[in-house]
Amino acid sequence: MAFTSKYKAKKPDANGIINFTAEENNVWQELITRQIPIVENRACDEYLTGLELLDLPKDHVPQCHEINGPLEKATGWTVYPVEALIPDDYFFELLANRKFPAATFIRRPDEIDYLQEPDIFHEYFGHCPILTDPTYAKFIQHYGEVALKASPDIRKLLGRLYWFTVEFGLIKTNRGTLCYGGGILSSKEETVYAVESNIPERRPFNDGTDAIRTPYRIDILQPIYYVINNFQDLYNMLEDDIVQHIKDAIALGEFSPTFEKESQQPFC
Ligand SMILES: [Fe+2]
Repeated sequence: MAFTSKYKAKKPDANGIINFTAEENNVWQELITRQIPIVENRACDEYLTGLELLDLPKDHVPQCHEINGPLEKATGWTVYPVEALIPDDYFFELLANRKFPAATFIRRPDEIDYLQEPDIFHEYFGHCPILTDPTYAKFIQHYGEVALKASPDIRKLLGRLYWFTVEFGLIKTNRGTLCYGGGILSSKEETVYAVESNIPERRPFNDGTDAIRTPYRIDILQPIYYVINNFQDLYNMLEDDIVQHIKDAIALGEFSPTFEKESQQPFC
């Protein structure tokens, strides 16, 4: 059954300003105030440097221009307000042009800890800081270029790469294995769990083939994370004939899921 959102996208006015209510600004304030200390020792340096650079406001939901000033200066990326779920072609075209598609609504207070769809806190706090890193910035732009040219079957599996990197990626650092994925870093519970719990498996990402073979669900704490060595490895994986890699992964077959049923709902 198709996913139906409980939320309505908020449209920017003629000056590009989105009007958020006092309650919505309060939700942002609560989310960012509690999440900053949680990510401090659990996010990689590139993310934390970006978070400092963006200097996100604490007392109100940021407007696009507040993010775009420092972000564009760092890597040429900007955020681009969209309806939460947009067609694949449009999504990849935006990435290929260094525009990060960002939802414009914020979760309700009763869903403050978890919601299934990406809201503006997920987009801005989870994804935008790391977009200030030049190598990561180059990787995600190239991901958009590759996906735009790919067939539907290849795209589906490129979606798994996105999931296990951009959304739920971990990275080796000299402070241990830490987070860079926006799906983790915008979640209070998953940021702690991904770094500290002994429940999930943390597998080496290597050339990405295993991640491509791994089914996932969007509505549970991840049972498996893939750990990269650095962001250049991610870029190199795309350059190293990723389409052939995906075909090889298809030939090898999918890993058995470690959960009951795979969710089909896309999440980005
Ligand atoms: Fe996302």
